[in-house]
Amino acid sequence: MLFFRKKNTDTAPAADLLAFMHTDIHSHLLPGVDDGVPDLATSLHFIEQLREMGIQKIITTPHIMMDRYPNSVNTMAAPYLAVKAALAQQNMSIPFHHAAEYYLDEQFEALMTSPLLTLDGQMVLVEISFMSAPPQLHQWLFDISALGYTPLLAHPERYSYCHKNFELYQQFKQWGCKFQVNLLSLTGYYGKHIQLAAEKLIELEMIDFIGTDLHHEKHLRAITDIGKNKKLRQVLENYPFGNAAL
Ligand SMILES: [Fe+2]
Repeated sequence: MLFFRKKNTDTAPAADLLAFMHTDIHSHLLPGVDDGVPDLATSLHFIEQLREMGIQKIITTPHIMMDRYPNSVNTMAAPYLAVKAALAQQNMSIPFHHAAEYYLDEQFEALMTSPLLTLDGQMVLVEISFMSAPPQLHQWLFDISALGYTPLLAHPERYSYCHKNFELYQQFKQWGCKFQVNLLSLTGYYGKHIQLAAEKLIELEMIDFIGTDLHHEKHLRAITDIGKNKKLRQVLENYPFGNAAL
């Protein structure tokens, strides 16, 4: 798997760097609602940068994590409308929608009694603990599916307890999960083991979607750097990600 890591010094045009993705389905671009962009100006700057790199549609996904980011449709409405208005004012014509990234814990059970925010009317982006697999995960995934939604697990490669127990990934898929890899996992941004897990999931074609999970300027710079990594770009451009359908 050396080809993922070998750097190429050619500077690729940034304009089509993310064109393979078409729709970015995971980012934190609503100002002031989570650990993503702090203000409207940063939000607009990041949206413009994504557009310049070839993204044609954005479904941004603020955290809904009741202990830290107790967001809801209501808390997100004003910042979302502010971004939409500013995009229109600046004639930036890119479809911009929002869903959410739900943290699965006991408090999520209460959220399921109301309609969930989806990427496409059906798919719900979810994340789980980075420390350990929640024992109730099977039940929560079953409940989400029983309500007619499809759970899309954010960045499965970042749950390090799965790395030495790779069959957990098979189990999650058997429980009805789709998988969304983070673009920067494939560059080593989050560490070597996460990169290796992401590469293996790609090789096994277990990944269904890709997202930037863009929070801040450091992420943006790391994404721009992918322009220099010709081999990774080839892998990304040839993988059948489902993003364009969303
Ligand atoms: Fe995220």
